[in-house]
Amino acid sequence: MTGGYAPSPDVPIGRLYGVRMSRHLTIEELRSEYESEGLDFSSLDPDPIEQFSTWFALAIDSGVVAPNTMVLATAAQGAVSARAVLLKGFDAAGFVFFTNLESDKGIQMLANPRAALTFVWAELHRQVRVEGTVAMVSERESDDYFASRPRGAQLASAASRQSRVIGDRRELERAIEELAAELGDGPVPRPARWGGVRVLPTSIEFWQGRGHRLHDRARYIKDGDGWRIERLAP
Ligand SMILES: Cc1cc2nc3c(=O)[nH]c(=O)nc-3n(C[C@H](O)[C@H](O)[C@H](O)COP(=O)(O)O)c2cc1C
Repeated sequence: MTGGYAPSPDVPIGRLYGVRMSRHLTIEELRSEYESEGLDFSSLDPDPIEQFSTWFALAIDSGVVAPNTMVLATAAQGAVSARAVLLKGFDAAGFVFFTNLESDKGIQMLANPRAALTFVWAELHRQVRVEGTVAMVSERESDDYFASRPRGAQLASAASRQSRVIGDRRELERAIEELAAELGDGPVPRPARWGGVRVLPTSIEFWQGRGHRLHDRARYIKDGDGWRIERLAP
């Protein structure tokens, strides 16, 4: 496999790893050991959504910073992109986030309706990876969530053409002011280009960091109506 990679410029290893990134630490000194308890395969829930629910609740209760932040990866026409989005709901059907459907991610998902989500809960030495297909949530779900957002966020989503190049910040502020003046006290209508996307999982992996980099990995694979669980090498 490695034979296929293009070589990258040769940087002396000392320059890469010895760099003092802050007044205190080099990158190499950031290395931490994971001494967490392992993943007990016998106590994994047969349903990965239930298992996710248990881990997510623990992440919230443990004070993990922004536990609903997930990195969404999309790919189309040979390009791969990743960015953070917020989980706004999950159920047996999948994991929901909201976005501008005409953004770069929206265009990529339209061309290739597949996506991957990664949660990193570093404080717990845990990672969850979801892979699957994408589907739009219902208009009603998007309307309900849009209506629940603060007015400022509604105006921003309505005025901003996410991912497009703009001249300066003032341009954006002016678009919001104009829209706000136009709407007066009336409600902000949800733009048709803004809505919810659900990632329908075909696999979900639970990763638990362990000592000496011998981590535990449990991957659920969709199998007919159910799921099968396999253990992966770290
Ligand atoms: C913590 C965090 C949460 C974010 N949540 C969202 C979100 O829920 N929806 C969204 O469209 N963008 C969100 N963003 C912004 C995206 O990362 C990204 O900049 C934007 O969606 C444009 O991405 P694109 O050009 O690849 O489409 C978030 C950024 C951060 C750092």
